[in-house]
Amino acid sequence: MVVSNRVALPDESSSRAGGLAVALTEALRHYGGLWFGWSGRIGQQSGGTPQVTQEGAVTYATLDLSRRDHAEYYNGFANRSLWPIFHYRIDLADFARENYQGYIRVNTLFAEKLRPLLRDGDDIWVHDYHLIPLGDELRRLGVRQRLGFFLHTPFPAMEVLLVLPNAARIVRSLAAYDVVGFQTATDLRGFHDHVTLESGGEVLSNGLVRAFGRTLKAEVFPIGIDVDTLAELARTSPRLTAIRRLRRNFDAVRLMIGVDRLDYSKGLPERFKSFERFLEKYPSWHGKVSLMQIAPSSRSDVPEYMQIRQQLESEAGHINGRFAEFDWTPIHYLNTGYQRPTLAGFYRFSQVGVVTPLRDGMNLVAKEYVAAQNAEDPGVLVLSRFAGAARELTSALLVNAYDLEGVADTLERALGMPLEERRDRWQDLMQAVRAGSLTRWRDSFLKALQEAPYSVEG
Ligand code: G6P
Repeated sequence: MVVSNRVALPDESSSRAGGLAVALTEALRHYGGLWFGWSGRIGQQSGGTPQVTQEGAVTYATLDLSRRDHAEYYNGFANRSLWPIFHYRIDLADFARENYQGYIRVNTLFAEKLRPLLRDGDDIWVHDYHLIPLGDELRRLGVRQRLGFFLHTPFPAMEVLLVLPNAARIVRSLAAYDVVGFQTATDLRGFHDHVTLESGGEVLSNGLVRAFGRTLKAEVFPIGIDVDTLAELARTSPRLTAIRRLRRNFDAVRLMIGVDRLDYSKGLPERFKSFERFLEKYPSWHGKVSLMQIAPSSRSDVPEYMQIRQQLESEAGHINGRFAEFDWTPIHYLNTGYQRPTLAGFYRFSQVGVVTPLRDGMNLVAKEYVAAQNAEDPGVLVLSRFAGAARELTSALLVNAYDLEGVADTLERALGMPLEERRDRWQDLMQAVRAGSLTRWRDSFLKALQEAPYSVEG
């Protein structure tokens, strides 16, 4: 039983999906099960009878949200309080109390609607920051089944989390689960610090934590991708018209690619500025390289997302206005999404993958870029050290995404990297992507969940 705010319904175009939806779609296909969450629609009121769809071994049960719940729970507390704080953007966070109440209200509603669907022996796996209190609400309704929670985003350092007025309640809610999973050791450390220094809890051996009268397992489970599927999509992508057109159009030009939801955490204005600095500093590359940035709009009712969209448009226009020639456009900025097979082809035929978030839980684009490469002539991954993926992909060219000059120099280094070095690095990267696959993530989390309940002796 999987619960997440965003459910990738089978009839939806996968071009809109974020990392969570892609990963859960593939993870559920294997085991089958029920996926419960928001329908993506705004209705007259929240709730009602869940809408049920079946596709293969997966059943989807979804609820509409009222305009007010959508505004307070999703746009409000989840995306204007938790998201910025979890991504270290204290400056962008808003703490309107009615949003927090809306957040709790929707979590309570989800618990009430989910409970009748539960059977004895079900394992319930809740995902991401929208639904942290769901476990607590389910326990309150008497649910005794095993409950797991996985956070796809970063979990911030304690000092940053403490800026959130409801930090203590959020951490306490996590203790209602049997297993709590994080992307990296840094995220786990943030949780441990809060538990031990702020909540009077204890970190025991074997990943166990005792807090708020419960014992739970808190561990690192780095999320991955289905490597073979992505590699195969990339290999067969020359069949696609889009890929044939791409190769024709960029025949004489090297391509750098970025693919991100249009989100301030992704460091897109900084990426454009770094590219501008690169063009200033290395004029011999003029006319010979373009940056293709794919950035579909996201959460577009939230003011901070409207601002970043405007900023990016003006930045791209400024750079193209400054450097473009009649037969060369430095930045191709596409404010739209593409299907996965097309993206896989775009990755394969780009010489540099640019993944430079200011903060990211994992970033599956980095892993997909690696999996899509041609072993004989692989591209180079430029990766922010502030993405969770940097912990595993240590053979990428790691950069400080805030350091525009450093990123500019690294782009130049990536473009000039000799074939042998590219192959060596790619082999290491591919090994790391395979080691931290989606299957491993799913199976290791579920194994930990099946070993619950944990006791201090456990
Ligand atoms: C990130 C979050 C997911 C979310 C996705 C897309 O990957 O961790 O929980 O689903 O972004 O954002 P959206 O607001 O459209 O669901």
